[in-house]
Amino acid sequence: MPEVDKEGKDYCLNVPVDNSGFFLKGCNSLDWGIKNRLARIFNPATGRTVMLAIDHGYFQGPTTGLERIDAKIMPFAEHADTLMLTRGILRANVPPSYSKPVVLRASGGPSILRELSNEEIAMSMEDALRLNASALAIQVFIGGEFETRSVHNMTRLVDQGLRYGMPILAVTAVGKEMARDARYFRLACRICAELGAHYVKTYYVPEDFETVTASCPVPIVMAGGKKIGELEALTMAYNAVQQGASGVDMGRNIFQSEAPIAMLKAVKAVVHENLMPQQAFEMYNDLK
Ligand code: R5P
Repeated sequence: MPEVDKEGKDYCLNVPVDNSGFFLKGCNSLDWGIKNRLARIFNPATGRTVMLAIDHGYFQGPTTGLERIDAKIMPFAEHADTLMLTRGILRANVPPSYSKPVVLRASGGPSILRELSNEEIAMSMEDALRLNASALAIQVFIGGEFETRSVHNMTRLVDQGLRYGMPILAVTAVGKEMARDARYFRLACRICAELGAHYVKTYYVPEDFETVTASCPVPIVMAGGKKIGELEALTMAYNAVQQGASGVDMGRNIFQSEAPIAMLKAVKAVVHENLMPQQAFEMYNDLK
C-alpha cells in the first residue's frame, strides 16, 4: 500500500473554471476523444490545418509525384500539419516514429476504369484505431450515380466514429458532368454536415465560396485539385481561408511542385499567418 498523503488545501478558489467552448466550429458537442483527435489535425492556436493529401493511388495507381512515396514524399512529410493517405501506404512507407497526425482514406472500390461513385467503406474502425488514426476520410458523391450508397457509407462510418471517438472527414467528389459552382458545393457540404460528418473537404470556387463555408455548420478544408501555377495555388488557398475555410488539404499542388518543401512552407504561411499570396510566392521562390 502506498503511504497515505495529506489532503490538499489549495482549491484555487479565486480562479474561475474555464467553461469556454471548443475552438472548432460546430464541434462543441462532440465527445472528448473526437475533440482531442481534431485538435491534433487543426492547430488550436489558429483553428486551421495544412493537410498533405497523398491518397490518390487508391483509385488511380501511381500518380505523378507519388510513384515512390518513401523516396519522394517522406523526406518532407514532417512539414505538413497532417498526412492524408491509405493504410497500405502508411504501413509500407511511413515509419512508426512519424509524429504528425494521419487521416486515413476509408473508402474505395472502383478504379479510374470504372464508375467512381460506386464505392464502399474500405477499412474497419478497429484497424483505424490500431493504426492510431486521427480521422477517417470518405468520399461522398452528391448527384453521382451511386449518391445514396456513398451517403450511407458516410453515415455508417460516422456512427462507428462516434462509438469510438474517431472524427470523419467527408470529401465531396464532383462528377465530370456536374457544375463546380457554389450552389453545388453548398448542397454537397451541407448534406455531409447534416448527416454527421465532423469536417468536410471541398473545392474552392471563385464566386460565393463564403456562402459555402457559411452554410456548412462544421469546418471546411479546401481541396487542392489539379496542378496549377504556384502563385495561383497560393492565391486560391489564401482566398479560401479568408472566406471561411479552416485550412487546406492539398496534394498535387504541393508534391508536383518543382520545390515541394518550399511550397508546403508557403502554404502554411498563408493558412496559419494570413500571409498575402504575392508575399507567399516570394517566400516560395526564396526557399526553393
Ligand atoms: C481525391 O479523391 C483525394 O481525396 C485527394 O486526396 C484529393 O483530391 C486531394 O488531392 P489534390 O489536391 O491533388 O486534388
